[in-house]
Amino acid sequence: MGRFHYLLGLLLLFICSCLWIASSLGKQPSNILITHGSCVCNEDNVTVASDVGDIPSNQLEVPIKDMKPISEPNIPSYLPITNSYGHHTQPSIPLKLWQKAGSMKINDARQKDIHSWLDVNPRLRHEILTDESAEEYVRENFADYPDVLDLYLSLPVPILKADLLRQLILYADGGIWSDLDVTCHRPINTWIPEQYKNRTNVVVGLEFDGFQFSSWTIMTKPKTSHIVAIIEYVVDKLKASAAQHSVTTAELNMTMISDVVDVTGPQAMTVALLQNLQKEMGVPFGRANITDIKEPTLFQDMLVLPNAAFASRQAGFPEDRGPYLVEHHYAGSWKNANGGETQS
Ligand SMILES: *[C@@H]1O[C@H](CO)[C@@H](O)[C@H](O)[C@H]1NC(C)=O
Ligand SMILES: *[C@@H]1O[C@H](CO)[C@@H](O)[C@H](O)[C@H]1NC(C)=O
Ligand SMILES: *[C@@H]1O[C@H](CO)[C@@H](O)[C@H](O)[C@H]1NC(C)=O
Ligand SMILES: *[C@@H]1O[C@H](CO)[C@@H](O)[C@H](O)[C@H]1NC(C)=O
Repeated sequence: MGRFHYLLGLLLLFICSCLWIASSLGKQPSNILITHGSCVCNEDNVTVASDVGDIPSNQLEVPIKDMKPISEPNIPSYLPITNSYGHHTQPSIPLKLWQKAGSMKINDARQKDIHSWLDVNPRLRHEILTDESAEEYVRENFADYPDVLDLYLSLPVPILKADLLRQLILYADGGIWSDLDVTCHRPINTWIPEQYKNRTNVVVGLEFDGFQFSSWTIMTKPKTSHIVAIIEYVVDKLKASAAQHSVTTAELNMTMISDVVDVTGPQAMTVALLQNLQKEMGVPFGRANITDIKEPTLFQDMLVLPNAAFASRQAGFPEDRGPYLVEHHYAGSWKNANGGETQS
């Protein structure tokens, strides 16, 4: 019993101490202004200083409770852009497939396409986003980037949203993006030739025309400057389209977007990637360098696959350009007047 009372006493003493500390902390004035850099931080937002020089010096003495680390994140209004060359966020590209379901149900043909990925790549992780889960994803991952988050949330046209979404996922998580109407024929771990494996950050395939990158399938490590360049390009184009028609991005519609392909689609992606690589490599780099390449070619850290890889059917099944990796069925009639994602 003596031991029990002793422990009880200790416990009471501990609780009282906690209460005393808590109450004395609570008495500290909480509307004290803390300034560092140009940021005026005040938990209660009671006092707002327009001129930091006017604050009486005694107010700069900050109680510990209100002290925030000096390195409080200075949230950039845009994604940090760095040169990806020689920079590898991780040794290999995440073996994860990302897809997005439109408003239509996933029919049998699409189910077969989805299964082709899992059959050919037994270790593949897989996630299909819906409109709702995609929004949640962007909210979670881009909370620090209001420019991007607000634009994504504001966009009313499904195809514009879907185009931007794939780039946001490829930035935040990396892995493989693929539209639902794509069949996988060859294991993903064979797509990058052995000699390029340890230097590749991004993998893109040429379309059948032989000089534009396809956007239905793209593979990348997370947080590369190349995907940042695409996001920046698309965001700028969307804002410019809205400004041109004197509307907000929330009011954009398909009549105003001259051509989706140029604003958010494969053409936008191609221009952004070529420009960014030219800037990073510091040598001329354009369509001429990629047109009709016949084998996987590494430019800095971006691997470009010949059109047989992703666009074999459309390119007429060429026999001199390596294996057919995926097949795109063009089932999404996405260029309808509403920018919908209807499927056949
Ligand atoms: C605090 O006040 C500033 C200046 O009026 C304002 O910009 C900011 O949005 C306020 N923050 C909150 C959390 O209310
Ligand atoms: C990458 O792999 C090649 C062989 O495929 C090797 O010669 C090269 O040194 C490696 N580079 C790095 C940075 O590990
Ligand atoms: C887009 O908006 C403009 C102006 O409000 C309107 O004239 C046009 O019909 C709209 N187009 C579509 C596809 O809704
Ligand atoms: C692209 O082609 C131009 C003209 O032939 C050449 O000068 C340049 O070095 C090429 N760039 C790369 C990255 O191969």
